Amino acid sequence: MQNNQKIIAIFGAGGFIGKHLMRELTKLDFRVKVATRNPYLKGYLKPLGNPGQIELFKTNIFNIEDIKHVLKNCDYVINLVGILYETKKQKFNYIHSQFPHILSNLCEEFGIKNLVHISALGVKEKHVSLYMQSKLQGEKNIQNNFKPSIILRPSVVFGPEDKFFNTFASLAQFSPFLPLIGGGKTKFAPIYVGDVAKAIVKALELNNSEPKIYELGGPENYSFKELMEILLTEIKKKRLLISIPFGVAKFQSYFLQMMPNPLLTSDQVELLKHNNIISGNYSTLKDLGIAGTPIKSILSKYIYRFRTGGQFG
Ligand SMILES: NC(=O)c1ccc[n+]([C@@H]2O[C@H](COP(=O)([O-])OP(=O)(O)OC[C@H]3O[C@@H](n4cnc5c(N)ncnc54)[C@H](OP(=O)(O)O)[C@@H]3O)[C@@H](O)[C@H]2O)c1
Repeated sequence: MQNNQKIIAIFGAGGFIGKHLMRELTKLDFRVKVATRNPYLKGYLKPLGNPGQIELFKTNIFNIEDIKHVLKNCDYVINLVGILYETKKQKFNYIHSQFPHILSNLCEEFGIKNLVHISALGVKEKHVSLYMQSKLQGEKNIQNNFKPSIILRPSVVFGPEDKFFNTFASLAQFSPFLPLIGGGKTKFAPIYVGDVAKAIVKALELNNSEPKIYELGGPENYSFKELMEILLTEIKKKRLLISIPFGVAKFQSYFLQMMPNPLLTSDQVELLKHNNIISGNYSTLKDLGIAGTPIKSILSKYIYRFRTGGQFG
């Protein structure tokens, strides 16, 4: 993609997907304005570009002046802001629905060429999960306010520092068993973080005049149980896989979700009741010209640290 030093504003760039995306963008010579709550803590992003290529802006995403300051002179905007669970201050509705509403209105006002927004696979009407309801409302707000937008819905994303495999591998370090909620039958289409980053870059150049949705999944679908088996093989550990009925998991989640970094919330139990795979009703990774990287070619490269002997174990 020829960009002639186009300027991109990214919200949520300091997270898992953002870090991988940053290198893709700086390689292509984009200038990047990173909107973050704490620039001091996101200093690690700067060496991912040439001197001066990445600028960090202290931003409260609910302060219009802060957002306007970031959007000034930008060509493109990417929204990666998201949360997995609610806290006293962080609510799904604010983060996933209200912020996209504010951002897309301002994109219109500032004549932004394209807004790429990361939603989630499985978004649908009348989902019981508040996470999904808020993601759906966020998509609708963007579609109403800003036509040249692209919505990407990834399934679970894997890669170095992912929350999925790393969390369960950490659990396997001390727990004699891993839980299979609802029997571990829920299906996923895990997608490599590098492919999500590539999809975002491709989406920037689509030049669409109407909102477009892409569902992003990897080349293979796996049940949750199969994913735990793959993980245990990679980290060379034998652990019991214990089936936990949804009702029991829901009860346990009421206690677990009181912890600061909860392993399970009752909203996540609702998410696990639905398969998280490509529906066939939307464009996909293939339509963006990306083949999709299999889990087995990547997982061992970063999960080896959980083996007893590490890399040489
Ligand atoms: N990872 C997955 O498996 C997956 C799957 C489906 C969809 N998604 C979606 O993809 C997006 C990026 O995911 P990720 O895995 O990269 O998430 P992440 O690592 O948790 O990063 C999310 C980012 O959101 C920002 N953020 C959170 N609360 C905020 C707040 N109150 N104000 C401002 N910024 C806030 C943070 O930015 P700062 O700390 O810099 O302010 C953080 O960098 C999210 O929308 C997520 O829902 C992810």
